[in-house]
Amino acid sequence: MAVLVVIAHPDKNSFTQQWAKESIRGARNLEHEVIVSDLYAMKFDPIEKADHYNFTCPKNHFDVLRTQEFHSQKNSLPKEVLTELEKINKCELIIFHFPIWWFSPPAALKGWMERVFVNGATHDTTYRFDRGKLKNKGAQFCVTMGASKQESSFNGKEADIEMLLWPMAYTLKYLGMDVLPHKIINSVHSYHTDNRKIEIEKSLKAELQNQLRFIQNFYQVEPFKFNKDTDFSNDGVLKESVLSHSPFIRHSK
Ligand SMILES: Cc1cc2nc3c(=O)[nH]c(=O)nc-3n(C[C@H](O)[C@H](O)[C@H](O)COP(=O)(O)O)c2cc1C
Repeated sequence: MAVLVVIAHPDKNSFTQQWAKESIRGARNLEHEVIVSDLYAMKFDPIEKADHYNFTCPKNHFDVLRTQEFHSQKNSLPKEVLTELEKINKCELIIFHFPIWWFSPPAALKGWMERVFVNGATHDTTYRFDRGKLKNKGAQFCVTMGASKQESSFNGKEADIEMLLWPMAYTLKYLGMDVLPHKIINSVHSYHTDNRKIEIEKSLKAELQNQLRFIQNFYQVEPFKFNKDTDFSNDGVLKESVLSHSPFIRHSK
């Protein structure tokens, strides 16, 4: 199996990067082919803009969806985007390693998605959700955050991490992928003191050691359940008779 590891962290010595290294090592130990996109190391430009293209569509206005679609059909996408698309096409699983920055993934990763999940190449109006072009691929988020487990739980002050990650997970679902349950490591920051510092360092070390076992179990875990295309009416509204599988798609109260 080929595994793509996407890393969004600027510091090689960060916990996020050390953790990603363990994912790479673990996947190689399991004899998977490992492909890496270390976004900061690659200096991947996360900003989608007209300058990336020879010309925009239409010429006097940068319609991003149309421009991506045109260049995808003509095989004239930016080279760095084509490289990432080749990696995605080759892999069966993508592991994303990133910290939470302002209740979201870092802009480097969000921008990678905006540029690389090209209209035409990875989705279009016909091939999306249950008919998504990236069907049969899995994805998993390995996330670090400063907030504690309690603070990032459903009633926590720092907001429910499952909700914060939902838009990204739904992006992958839009493309047809299976999203496996996230792995979150909490309380990752350097402001702990005394016993708490020792405790955290010990637990982070244990998490790094656990990563091989975690990767081994990838396909034994059930992916997240999302609503199927047939759960929605022709107007794109959740049918009354169907249970919602998303905190963002609800029946009226
Ligand atoms: C710009 C910025 C914004 C942050 N926002 C959040 C946040 O919204 N929630 C949170 O729990 N931690 C937040 N943090 C803390 C980071 O998530 C935490 O430092 C990081 O996950 C630690 O992992 P690292 O050592 O790999 O960087 C933020 C950190 C930075 C630099």
